[in-house]
Amino acid sequence: MKIDVLTLFPAMFEGPLSESIIGKAIESGRVSITCTNFRDYSENKHNSVDDYPFGGGAGMLLRAQPIVDALTDIEVQSPETKKRIVLLDPSGKTFNQELAEEFAEEEHIVFICGHYEGFDERIKQHVTDEVSIGDYVLTGGELGAMVMIDATVRLLPAVLGNEQSNKTDSFSTGLLEHPQYTRPRDFRGDVVPEVLFSGNHQKIADWQEKESLRKTWLRRPEMLEKITLSKKQQAWLAE
Ligand code: ADE
Repeated sequence: MKIDVLTLFPAMFEGPLSESIIGKAIESGRVSITCTNFRDYSENKHNSVDDYPFGGGAGMLLRAQPIVDALTDIEVQSPETKKRIVLLDPSGKTFNQELAEEFAEEEHIVFICGHYEGFDERIKQHVTDEVSIGDYVLTGGELGAMVMIDATVRLLPAVLGNEQSNKTDSFSTGLLEHPQYTRPRDFRGDVVPEVLFSGNHQKIADWQEKESLRKTWLRRPEMLEKITLSKKQQAWLAE
């Protein structure tokens, strides 16, 4: 997968994306990430990228020209790949696991990170998605782009060591993940549930599924409306 990031602050991406699982995915060539400062595309005397909004209003807006020209350059450099062009905007649709799974199927994604008060509306006709990472306002789109890159890249084949782990994650199953324990069996008097030592795989799987269901019902009941519950799950909820 190829990822391009258009940002005024490319250095923000250097540390976070070079470590751990994403760092290894880049090293092994499973993903390549190129950060471009769209200020370099400004045709303005002082390389400015923003200007005052017509009609008045607080703050500055990112001008269309530097961003649209940076996008055109990406298109010219790789005309053969179909691209997903994602504008980071707090008024966009909210990012979630489903969108991460969709992004993980793409060959080439471009993230456009804004700063200041927003974008000239005419940029939006050049993008495929306007996406927010949540209902709060950040100083810019960079952290949001990193969140989406992380959630997407870990879903690529062979990026996670354990192939199982992204299939049983919270959200992939439609339920939150059940509690998990490792050694010691007794941590200062707090003991691991007995069923996990029963050796009975069906009993353990039932306990895990029931705990997932219980946790989801308590913390995120709206998630249950999006899935079809099995007869067994309906019976557990009725208990
Ligand atoms: N830019 C500023 N706030 C944002 C948010 N919540 N999501 C995506 N981009 C943003």
